[in-house]
Amino acid sequence: MEYRIAKGVFDILPHDPDTKGRWRSSAYWHYVEKQIHEIAREFGFSEIRTPLFESTELFTRSIGATSDIVTKEMYTFFDKANRSLTLRPEGTAPVMRSLIEKKLCTQQKVYYLYSMFRYERQQAGRYRQHHQFGIEAVGNASPYQDAEGIILLYTLLTRLGLKNLTLHLNSIGDSIDRNAYRTALQNFLKPYFKCLSVESQARFETNPLRILDSKDSRDIEITQNAPFILEFLRDETKSHFETVCALLKNEGVYFNVNPKLVRGLDYYNRTVFEITSEHLGAQNALGGGGRYDGLIKDLGGPDTPAFGFGAGLERIIQAMLAQGAYLPEEGILQLYMIPLGEKAFAPSFHLLNQLRNQHIVAQMDFSEKKLKSAMKFANQIKAQYVVVIGEEELKTGKISLKNMKTGENKEVSIDQLVETMKHV
Ligand code: HAM
Repeated sequence: MEYRIAKGVFDILPHDPDTKGRWRSSAYWHYVEKQIHEIAREFGFSEIRTPLFESTELFTRSIGATSDIVTKEMYTFFDKANRSLTLRPEGTAPVMRSLIEKKLCTQQKVYYLYSMFRYERQQAGRYRQHHQFGIEAVGNASPYQDAEGIILLYTLLTRLGLKNLTLHLNSIGDSIDRNAYRTALQNFLKPYFKCLSVESQARFETNPLRILDSKDSRDIEITQNAPFILEFLRDETKSHFETVCALLKNEGVYFNVNPKLVRGLDYYNRTVFEITSEHLGAQNALGGGGRYDGLIKDLGGPDTPAFGFGAGLERIIQAMLAQGAYLPEEGILQLYMIPLGEKAFAPSFHLLNQLRNQHIVAQMDFSEKKLKSAMKFANQIKAQYVVVIGEEELKTGKISLKNMKTGENKEVSIDQLVETMKHV
């Protein structure tokens, strides 16, 4: 029986032998994750980690019973006590559950970096386990909070060297604006009902706003002249949106107001946004989010406003590779030690540990290779320096430190190796 990886998921490997799978190299993930932790800290967000699964009800209640995630994509199972549990398909609801439960719904700025699970139809850019960097800022209704969140993601992506990004921005108003708009949109769509895609026909009553972001060409054509929600915003929601736009403009963050952007999760109100890259295929959203002022109350917490986003690491790394952005190759190996003969092993091993105690990245050949094949291996693993330690070296106390790039050899005493390596 040959066991194979499950559909729609992938391994992150030290090196993926498949050239198309370069984005799955762990060195790239470490680099991007490091930048994420750094920027989150700079913007004042602290890390939160919630469990991999939650009660199913938490997701149906928050994401929306008619959303794609809830209707088609959840990994739901029953535990031994017959409780319905679901692998988290997204991060917002679990974080809100945690903050409500711990009575932390005052001012909180948290972020997370972990995997989400969605049973998606398999296609490029859509995985059944994907990794998200998300932030959630709770307790602040100010448009400055929206701007801060959007600027954080935009800054991260630019720091990672991504270019040709498009920031799509919209406001879907509050429930009063949306109710008025919903009726206007349904009135507009009614004469075309039969021409809409089957999916959009199903959404006509339950969630007509989602028809606006349908990818079906018939729906796109029909909605071209549809009324836009921005025309239905009342003064307060309109002014909130205008302030967000002004703040972004002021910081040189360019955006497109995209009145068709509605997002696929039900909890949003007011500002919604997405950042897309032109270097990805159909699944081109690197990240997206918005304001969700009603969610905490809906989940049984205090009436608390909030703003957040989620961004997919797979797509970020793929876009970086497509654009030739800087990504470090695998970790650097400073020194490779080749002991020759049985007697050389123990002293070499001792030296290896002394080197590591001084934070020098060193490895030793444990496999008693012949010198030629050990040198070949050192080359393969891109060692910067190599030392060979045999009986002769142990007798004289001197070793030859070989610079693998220049081929130069430098004689150093074994006692001085650690000190020398600190300064090369
Ligand atoms: P989302 O738009 O569903 O939002 O996901 C956020 C990002 O995760 C997407 O823009 C995309 O980059 C990535 N992503 C989503 N699904 C997949 C997939 N199947 N494969 C690969 N990447 C994927 C949310 O999840 C919200 N919780 C974001 C949020 C946080 N809103 C407020 N706070």
